[in-house]
Amino acid sequence: MMTGNSRQVTSAQQDCHPELLQLVERHRKHQFQKPIADFNQRAFQQAEQQWLAHGGPLILDSGCGVGDSTRFLAEQHPDHLVMGLDRSVHRLQRQRPDLPANALLLRTDLVDFWRLAASAGWQPDRHFLFYPNPYPKPSQLSRRFHAHPVFPAMVTLSKQLEARSNWKIYLQELQTGLAAYGIHSLIEPIEADSPAVSAFERKYRASQQPLWKLITQS
Ligand SMILES: C[S@@+](CC[C@H](N)C(=O)[O-])C[C@H]1O[C@@H](n2cnc3c(N)ncnc32)[C@H](O)[C@@H]1O
Repeated sequence: MMTGNSRQVTSAQQDCHPELLQLVERHRKHQFQKPIADFNQRAFQQAEQQWLAHGGPLILDSGCGVGDSTRFLAEQHPDHLVMGLDRSVHRLQRQRPDLPANALLLRTDLVDFWRLAASAGWQPDRHFLFYPNPYPKPSQLSRRFHAHPVFPAMVTLSKQLEARSNWKIYLQELQTGLAAYGIHSLIEPIEADSPAVSAFERKYRASQQPLWKLITQS
């Protein structure tokens, strides 16, 4: 059996952040104005062309890291185009060479890509967010996606969202944020004997960490 030394998330927060709903509401009412960076515009154009060329339904794997989850999803959904999106060149360069033909890895910042995709009316069949950076200090709340100004775009994109985390509070906050948009979700533990979907999931498993997933209910 693999063993690991990955540390569990520790935080001064023992529950959802008290300012969470206030931030979610503020971002719901005010449009996020930050200009889109050129490299994200180009990445989005490439994504559009690839999706057009594929012609089938779409799955987004946001924050895909080294792309193991993109590969996993592409194998599970051979009729879909699976786009793995990550801002880290370093992580994307560590991808294994034999990516399935229905998988695509793109370097982009989600903060821009999600806004571009939402305003283009994209409706991917599924949206996966595996182990987003937790930013567990209470002062880092606004860096978590659900408390960030990009959240309205993320919500618009796909009602079929699955997010995984080793910090349950992250998912509870995401659940609260989604509920403010009328989207219901369930949080459940991830079975320890289910196949690991991503590099971080494998790492956390090896350290025997409890893991959770949030799934939206349509
Ligand atoms: C903890 S890692 C998880 C990686 C992968 N999902 C996994 O489970 O192995 C979080 C990933 O999100 C990416 N990320 C964080 N914020 C991002 C953003 N704004 N745009 C694109 N990628 C981002 C990081 O570069 C990193 O690869």
